[in-house]
Amino acid sequence: MEITADFLVLGSGIAGFSFAIKAAKLGTVAIVTKKERYESNTNYAQGGIAAVSDQADRFEYHIDDTLTCGSGLSKEDVVRFVVTEGPERIDELVKWGVEFTRAQAGSTAEYDLGREGGHSMRRVLHAKDLTGREIERALTEKAAHERNIRIYENHIAVDLVLKSAAQGQRKGNEDRCLGAYVLDIDTGEIHTFRAKYTVLATGGAGKVYLITTNPDIATGDGIAMAYRAGALIANMEFIQFHPTCLYHPEAKAFLISEAVRGEGGILKLRSGSTFMEKYHPMKSLAPRDVVAQAVDTELKKTGDEYVLLDISHRDRDFIRNRFPNIYEKCLQFGIDITREPISVVPAAHYLCGGVVVNAEGETSIRGLFACGEVSCTGLHGANRLASNSLLEAVVFSHRAIRRIEQIFSEPAGEDIPIPPWDPRGATESDESVVVTNNWDEIRRCMWYYVGIVRSDKRLERADRRIDLISREIDEYYRNFIVTRDLVELRNIAVVAKLIVTCARMRKESRGLHYNLDFPEKDDRNWLKDTIISRETR
Ligand code: FAD
Ligand code: SIN
Repeated sequence: MEITADFLVLGSGIAGFSFAIKAAKLGTVAIVTKKERYESNTNYAQGGIAAVSDQADRFEYHIDDTLTCGSGLSKEDVVRFVVTEGPERIDELVKWGVEFTRAQAGSTAEYDLGREGGHSMRRVLHAKDLTGREIERALTEKAAHERNIRIYENHIAVDLVLKSAAQGQRKGNEDRCLGAYVLDIDTGEIHTFRAKYTVLATGGAGKVYLITTNPDIATGDGIAMAYRAGALIANMEFIQFHPTCLYHPEAKAFLISEAVRGEGGILKLRSGSTFMEKYHPMKSLAPRDVVAQAVDTELKKTGDEYVLLDISHRDRDFIRNRFPNIYEKCLQFGIDITREPISVVPAAHYLCGGVVVNAEGETSIRGLFACGEVSCTGLHGANRLASNSLLEAVVFSHRAIRRIEQIFSEPAGEDIPIPPWDPRGATESDESVVVTNNWDEIRRCMWYYVGIVRSDKRLERADRRIDLISREIDEYYRNFIVTRDLVELRNIAVVAKLIVTCARMRKESRGLHYNLDFPEKDDRNWLKDTIISRETR
């Protein structure tokens, strides 16, 4: 079946929805999303969205904090427009129904502002500790009222369709994205989705690592698809590890927000002694790369499996009101955070690299845009400032629409026939153990060899293993019917390879990339992005 729309939006997090709601004013929109519409990293965001909104704050402060955190690789012009356009995008979210927690009477600010690592001011708008859920709620409701939007749940994009491939030609400079092949997970059928403009809003890739704060959807599909299509990809070595993921045998990927440290939470060893003062003047509120590396170092030194995060010195009612979700969740695991510290470990959290886009969200392939965590915009550089990613998503989806408004009337390959998906005689697999085993192996390999602290030897080992596993997956993919699990496995293998490749290229330590063999920053040679594409590898 061929489904046609003006816009094909892959993903239904903040980037996908905020783009789609605006695109619906221009034409028809098909949102393809691989689970239920709300299931996304966005839905789990806790801390909030950073934007200057208090009289005491200044754009320049937010810009400086972002640049400092980015460790030399953030692009100043991008940082500047994201920060200065932030307040307008916040107003829009509010207009669409997002209810941020309001400030108490007497405050100079309209909203209650949280503080997080690396921020010199309180500037994080939040909805208690459930900011992402509130944003998803409002955006799904808003999208439901747009007649031009149709949402395809339980549909997973498998690959992008390029004009060259549709015409049986080699990829050239005149290539263009015409849409995507999409698997209907319920029926097993693969449909062609054709659109004038395709938007990758598929989010991050935390599931490439064994321990992550991300939900199951975060398998880097958009990056893998864009890479296979020949798009430029950058800075994949910069994986942000969040220092405080709940450590409990029964807890799966539950984040303890940095906002807890923003409200006075202190990191301690199991012995009860503090340690962050040895690493950074901002102590427990230092930028995330510093805190994650410090926790990793202390865990290796002490042999402990976790450190502690203690906010029990704050007033009980304050804690329960400010962090109702964290309080309830910890209580389910027998931890009363108003009385005792929380056991925490670092976990893969955010991907700073991704599909390279310009200031309007355009990738290097015509007709293909990317917004949100899937993209590499130049904002985060070598380390993202906390709560800047929700902001980046809304700023870039808005800019992408503005760009498309200018070119909407131009021909966009509508007349080029797209061949239906070719199943190549694939049969049903009776060996799904291959999928589960390879999935597990990749995630362990990435966790142990390409984690917070890397070395040349570990990276080389990881590279060899990922190559071996990738060959097995490719063979399996060629022979067996495509399933959701197989699509995701193939994609995490591609993303793992891209992370290892970029990490091996960067012969220095900077921001989130720490290599024991090159422990210093090397501005002379490495004040630049690591850019790769299928053609250059
Ligand atoms: P997502 O919200 O992840 O949405 C991706 C969408 O794409 C999903 O709908 C998914 O199902 C779909 N998808 C993926 N692949 C496919 C495919 N092949 N086919 C079809 N659909 C597909 N950032 C902040 O700024 N502030 C915070 O407080 C904050 N807290 C966080 C807390 C947690 C626990 C996590 C995990 C992240 C947090 N982040 C935070 C990061 C932030 O949430 C994400 O970067 C942001 O939400 C990404 O939005 P997105 O729209 O790009 O992607
Ligand atoms: C958090 O609440 O700690 C997450 C914030 C972020 O990732 O930006």
